Amino acid sequence: MRVQALHAGSACKSWALICDDAREAVVVDVVLNRAPAVAAAMAQLGLRVTRAIDTHTHADHVSGGTWLRKNLGCGYSMHQATGVVTVSDRLKDGDGVLVGRSRLSVMHLPGHTKDSLGLWGGGVFLTGDFLFLGEGGAGRTDLLGGDPGEHWDSLQRLKDLQDDLVVLPGHDYRGAERGRLGDERRTNPRLTPRSRTEYVAWLSSLKLEPADWMLDVLKANARGATDETGLAIPMGGACCEVGGGAPSGGGSIPSVKPATLAARLSAPPGSGFHVLDVREPMEFVGPLGHVPGATNLSVQELPQRWQELGGLRSLDLYVICLSGARSARAVAMLLEKGFSKIWNVEGGTRAWAMANLPREYGEATTSSLPKDGQP
Ligand SMILES: [Fe+2]
Repeated sequence: MRVQALHAGSACKSWALICDDAREAVVVDVVLNRAPAVAAAMAQLGLRVTRAIDTHTHADHVSGGTWLRKNLGCGYSMHQATGVVTVSDRLKDGDGVLVGRSRLSVMHLPGHTKDSLGLWGGGVFLTGDFLFLGEGGAGRTDLLGGDPGEHWDSLQRLKDLQDDLVVLPGHDYRGAERGRLGDERRTNPRLTPRSRTEYVAWLSSLKLEPADWMLDVLKANARGATDETGLAIPMGGACCEVGGGAPSGGGSIPSVKPATLAARLSAPPGSGFHVLDVREPMEFVGPLGHVPGATNLSVQELPQRWQELGGLRSLDLYVICLSGARSARAVAMLLEKGFSKIWNVEGGTRAWAMANLPREYGEATTSSLPKDGQP
């Protein structure tokens, strides 16, 4: 059996497991909008796709599994805990998946989702979002059915696996493709030795919160969607991963009530503060509006773009999202980066709107982030 990366160069990983002797392939985590190309590529290689597998119900893209089943007549397999209604068969821990003459074992690895599975055998370990590479950590644990404690339990199963296993993850946002399990044991922050209680407390302190569009994508995948009608999936952003960052100060996040920020807004311009809205751009320009004068930079993009906020260090920085959860995570991240005059706006834009405080709509009125010292 050999492994071929599909969707080359994408942060969203997909794999073909190929048996050249049997001229058969099993494809894993194929994205809907690339499914026709994958089908064509397999046909060109003279390979029959026997099944498509999703390692879990995806929240960041529509799966190509249902499309492949309908168009190629192949199987569509997921873990038996899945809510996806279009699967042809449901796998359980210990089941075998045949790729021609090779066999991979199914491992049930809940935590990111209830239906997360890994495929292990032939020197490779397809981890889905159960485990990413290096600083990427692993998948988030706040989606429907996600559970930090169950994720810790699943991680314990790695103890039985060899260091030289090749890890093939469901995502990598740093340009990597595959790694060795032994390297992950040294570098992946999720594998830092910690008790179950410590692990759960750490992930809980991050106050994760999925964006609304992710919940919509989960529902589309559960019904076996074969188009993206009604979905607004943003480009870019490491939306699936939670790496190693933890809030400083033992998880206590400085925060203010919306009224406190509103009082600052009524002060004359140049009063030494700035508002950062860390929702998705489409939420920022959406019907709820945003705090007047706010700058938008989504929490997903912060790890890559926080240096652009350098000009705000000398100002009082108020961070807001929809409900206060994502902004708490952003504040934690920026505290780690040395921002000191920073507060989370409690209750977020929802509370702001409920209090009937002023909002503006559409694009940001400031086209770029302020330079040093300029509000
Ligand atoms: Fe995922």
